[in-house]
Amino acid sequence: MEKREQLYEGKAKKVFATENPDYVIVSYKDDATAFNGKKKGTIEGKGVINNTMSNMMFRYLETKGVKTHFEEQLSERETVVKKVEIVPLEVIIRNVAAGSFSKHYGVPEGKVLAAPTIEFSYKSDALDDPLLNEYHALALELATKEEIETIKAMAFKVNDELKAFFKGIGIDLIDFKLEFGRFHGEIVLADEISPDTCRFWDSVTHEKLDKDRFRRDLGGVEDAYSEIFKRING
Ligand code: TMP
Repeated sequence: MEKREQLYEGKAKKVFATENPDYVIVSYKDDATAFNGKKKGTIEGKGVINNTMSNMMFRYLETKGVKTHFEEQLSERETVVKKVEIVPLEVIIRNVAAGSFSKHYGVPEGKVLAAPTIEFSYKSDALDDPLLNEYHALALELATKEEIETIKAMAFKVNDELKAFFKGIGIDLIDFKLEFGRFHGEIVLADEISPDTCRFWDSVTHEKLDKDRFRRDLGGVEDAYSEIFKRING
């Protein structure tokens, strides 16, 4: 597939057109941001890891019956994906209390939740990704009722599959954020699955192996990304 003009540049990826209107090429950057772009930095080699890891996860989920935007990895940083219309919702699944959940509800980080939870934020940098519920999403016409049902079912299915996968390599999947897109009327999993968008804790030591090391200035950021990548690759 031929890389043509740049269509968009986000905080962590660039998107390029191709000769086929149904496909785009994403290019993963080493740029890292947190707190809606207020904190900026670079995580050396992150783009390569997040690209390759996301594609491995998408391929894995496809074998489990989850439709994704993944098509073909072109290089270390570049992948052909379906050109979807992104549903402007960040879909967050949690298994263990951490981050904003711990803060909002006064639950210590690390408390295993009695059941997995789902929450939605409105994907809007200008508004700081405010939390909303399904009724807000319908009222604001962000998605249809049917799409929301599909997204919820897919998100919990992804959680079951990823939790089991990571357990097998000694990692607890604490929480993660998904994005979905519309492709010829069908909802598919899009964006990425990486240490930028998931919390991964070592099952034994509970060491944080994700972007919280950057967000919270814990040091060892690159090492954490490498460790996750190494374990996935056996
Ligand atoms: P939170 O506890 O800060 O709400 O984050 C929940 C999960 O979502 C965590 O795994 C990190 C991920 N996340 C993103 O991928 N993008 C974001 O902008 C935010 C705030 C969180």
